[in-house]
Amino acid sequence: MKCVKVPLRQLNDTRIKLMENGLMNMEYRIKTDDEFGYIPINDNIEGYEIVCMYLESMKKVPHNFSELLEDELSSEEIENLRTSFDTIGDIVILEIPDELLDKKQIIGDAALKFTKRKSIYMKKSAIKGTTRVRDLEFLSGIDDSVTIHKEHGARLKLDVREVYFSPRLATERKRVMESVEDGEKILDMFCGIGPFPIVIARNKNVDITAVDINESAIRYLDENIKLNKLKGSVKSYCGDVRKVSESFNFKFDRIIMNLPGLAYTFLDVAFNLIDDSGIINYYEFSDSYEQGIERLESAASAIGKQVEIVNCRKVKSTSPGEWHVAIDGKVYDK
Ligand SMILES: C[S@@+](CC[C@H](N)C(=O)[O-])C[C@H]1O[C@@H](n2cnc3c(N)ncnc32)[C@H](O)[C@@H]1O
Repeated sequence: MKCVKVPLRQLNDTRIKLMENGLMNMEYRIKTDDEFGYIPINDNIEGYEIVCMYLESMKKVPHNFSELLEDELSSEEIENLRTSFDTIGDIVILEIPDELLDKKQIIGDAALKFTKRKSIYMKKSAIKGTTRVRDLEFLSGIDDSVTIHKEHGARLKLDVREVYFSPRLATERKRVMESVEDGEKILDMFCGIGPFPIVIARNKNVDITAVDINESAIRYLDENIKLNKLKGSVKSYCGDVRKVSESFNFKFDRIIMNLPGLAYTFLDVAFNLIDDSGIINYYEFSDSYEQGIERLESAASAIGKQVEIVNCRKVKSTSPGEWHVAIDGKVYDK
């Protein structure tokens, strides 16, 4: 490496002069010994003593996900990847677009390094089937899909390969929890591992009946009931809610219906089980609220009841122009 050799007392002034004139080679480190400093340069320069010697490369140490991948991906690709991260406990789940699949290992290793979580998985399919679980491919870290996720102080244990869970619903769960009154009798028709029941029962003295068709989800819900200090009570049932609920011989003050693709097909069950002035927290995928409102109104009138829509909101975007929407309906016996 070509360097300008200068006595130590001139090192700083020379360095600044060379830098200002664009003559210093910024990719190498300045070296010093007891008497001299050696400043890396690109070309020979008149008026200085030039020597050749080994200098350490300045090789940049990456400080974050973007820096590690900046040689591999465009900044837009990095940003898209970053917003696809779902962190569930000590597991990160990434969505890698098809055109970047040949770089999935580099991306997985970068995610492991900078999130400092235990395991990185990649989405291999859409959420599918009755249990709403997706296929995952292990990318980096430790291949152990069980974790404990913390949400609003609740500890939620789950296996990301076996059950549905979305950390993106945390705000919605808090909102529903805050609208619950002590003393309510609540049915969660599609409870999964129990994030709604656990978050609500940690904060409110309520009586919750939680149903899910996925045996693994109910196993984790039962663990989660024990893992958390609850003010209220949660009782779990495994099976199809249409069947399981036939044995319920009481009505509920609130029914939570978070199965957004199919909840509308269970509205008859919900309207049968809701008490006078009870609330149905209904969810669906839609580009508007109208469809959901019409579905609630027609299910109410089919059973001779009335529904007053008390709140509508977008929970999260699912695809361009489509939302996971929440509609809260207060149901009155006529
Ligand atoms: C979108 S997930 C929601 C889980 C949970 N409420 C949450 O927020 O994480 C829907 C859940 O409904 C369950 N499910 C689907 N069909 C069902 C049925 N007929 N009866 C009871 N549970 C059902 C699935 O197993 C899945 O766990």
